[in-house]
Amino acid sequence: MVPPIDVARSTTTTSALAPDAARAAANAAAPDPTTTTDRVSGTRPGYVPALGPEECRVSPAGAASYDQAMALPPPSPTSTALVTGASSGIGAALARELAQRGHGVTLVARREARLTELAAELHKAHGVRSEVVALDLTDAAARGGLLGTLAERGLTVDVLVNNAGFTTTGPVHRSDREREMAMIRTDVEAVIDLCSIFLPGMVERGRGAVLNVASTAAFQPLPGQAGYGASKAFVLSYTRAVRAEVRAKGVTVTALCPGPVKTEFAETGGFTKEESENSLPKFMWLAAAEVARIAVLGMEQGKGVVIPGFANRVGAGFARTAPHQALAAFLARQHPALK
Ligand SMILES: NC(=O)c1ccc[n+]([C@@H]2O[C@H](COP(=O)([O-])OP(=O)(O)OC[C@H]3O[C@@H](n4cnc5c(N)ncnc54)[C@H](OP(=O)(O)O)[C@@H]3O)[C@@H](O)[C@H]2O)c1
Repeated sequence: MVPPIDVARSTTTTSALAPDAARAAANAAAPDPTTTTDRVSGTRPGYVPALGPEECRVSPAGAASYDQAMALPPPSPTSTALVTGASSGIGAALARELAQRGHGVTLVARREARLTELAAELHKAHGVRSEVVALDLTDAAARGGLLGTLAERGLTVDVLVNNAGFTTTGPVHRSDREREMAMIRTDVEAVIDLCSIFLPGMVERGRGAVLNVASTAAFQPLPGQAGYGASKAFVLSYTRAVRAEVRAKGVTVTALCPGPVKTEFAETGGFTKEESENSLPKFMWLAAAEVARIAVLGMEQGKGVVIPGFANRVGAGFARTAPHQALAAFLARQHPALK
């Protein structure tokens, strides 16, 4: 199935750019590969001036600078990488990416059969310890039991990936109250709660990495997915603040802001396949495996914000600097759920 946009479908963008606007922005900013130097890597084209040095792209594997290297703790038999939303899409891909590097994983989501299948795959392929904890992240008591459950299994969490999430669609004045609250509990409340639960141990041990999955939807208001866009803006702001708090304590904190990715996200959000496919230009779409590869590379390099894909970085830069009132009005006219 295909993606959704985490942002809006219609014409909107990744960040909420309409396809045409996105194309124009991407074309206007397209680097001349013979002359452009990337400020982060210092060697590759693709530098986007609107974004800061910690926010653009990751460097090629092996190109991390000395002080950025090894921000992702090394694997150990008694530590695990806890990945929420590992039963599908980006979460499953992130678990694969971490297991490939030798990290034991703890897979969390509601669909237990899928988690068990992935755990078996990762153990077989990489020999890593793979744990499954099936739970509903909207349930505060279930979240609260995670630390104890893992301690009983002799595990500490050195890597926390807050990935689980979904969107609602349509105007707030026609929203389903329960569904809106479930989204906020999953996309926002669970992120804060798991950071509160697992960061103290990381800081105490002086070792840890957190990846919070936001979105390019974080960079501007998103009519038609108002609560979703706001929740991702929250995750981005929260992640940046927590990162600054623990910076000198051996713990790295990264926000991942993907543009459109081919997962079950669109279907869960109520988009049709056609709406999903027509929502954004093809060049903005990435596969979940590619997003996960770039995300984990970003963690290894200690990046603050990772936006996979050049077109998405351009879109995010545009969305951050464009007048939001005008942009929101434009997006409201384009979103299929508002027509
Ligand atoms: N796909 C995109 O275009 C895109 C773009 C930017 C950002 N993102 C973000 O990326 C993250 C992953 O999305 P995806 O694209 O991989 O979508 P997906 O394929 O639909 O996966 C969503 C995951 O979240 C889990 N989840 C949802 N509600 C949950 C709950 N109450 N308790 C536990 N787990 C729950 C689902 O597992 P169960 O259903 O088994 O519980 C599933 O594993 C989300 O935060 C999303 O906002 C996606």
